[in-house]
Amino acid sequence: MTRDKKLIIGNWKMNLGVQESSLYVHKLAEKVQIHRNVEVVLAPTMLTLQTLSLQVNFRQFKLAAQNFYWRDSGAFTGEVSATQLRGIVQYGIIGHSERRHVFHETDKDTRAKVQAAIRNGIRPVLCIGETANERAIGETDDILYDQLIGGLANVTSEELNEVVIAYEPVWAIGNGHSASPLDVKTAVRAIRHNLKHLYGAKASEAVQILYGGSVTEHNAADYLELSDVDGFLLGGSSLDAKVFSEIVEKAHKSKN
Ligand code: 13P
Repeated sequence: MTRDKKLIIGNWKMNLGVQESSLYVHKLAEKVQIHRNVEVVLAPTMLTLQTLSLQVNFRQFKLAAQNFYWRDSGAFTGEVSATQLRGIVQYGIIGHSERRHVFHETDKDTRAKVQAAIRNGIRPVLCIGETANERAIGETDDILYDQLIGGLANVTSEELNEVVIAYEPVWAIGNGHSASPLDVKTAVRAIRHNLKHLYGAKASEAVQILYGGSVTEHNAADYLELSDVDGFLLGGSSLDAKVFSEIVEKAHKSKN
């Protein structure tokens, strides 16, 4: 995938049951326009992925898993692997702040999951971001670097093309306090700079980097003006068909 396309991912988190999801996708299908310059991805709960994979028009929506386990199969009660998700999802979210902070996932886990995704033909969406406290004590750059190399350690420059990075500052998630466009610009620049350091200019320029954290139909255009931002990882805004479709339209019209 190239950066000519904006990427809008809706992370529904632990919301909507099987029937509700199906009804919601029906509603989204009527509202969200198909555009060649925007890829729209839905990340419903694990439970509903298969049903939705039979329902969606893949030209309109791709699907993402919110999480998965890094082993391909075996005695891991309660887990679902990337191998099992193959053919159902095209993307897999990895290292979301809720996975890191509520479920104590480490960079070692994200690295193994990035590998599992690539091995199974699923595009990894590696989420990185600092907490309010880390920002307050001036550690933002170090955290972003550590989480980036932590997740990408075994990724080759050819494989990097399949990877999406999502900058999600923990302090901006789910509370209406979105990061300012300047904060996002600074962080995303730093991420691309780190990628350049690790993989060289050409490979780093090709990576899609998303912003996530209290994005709405009102502030989306401000981030889309930033040349380094290639789309969004949306939480709350992805659960309202009107708001979600408006953000998709803004991405379609963005000049970058
Ligand atoms: P909100 O858009 O609700 O802040 O959530 C962002 C997020 O965590 C997406 O993964």
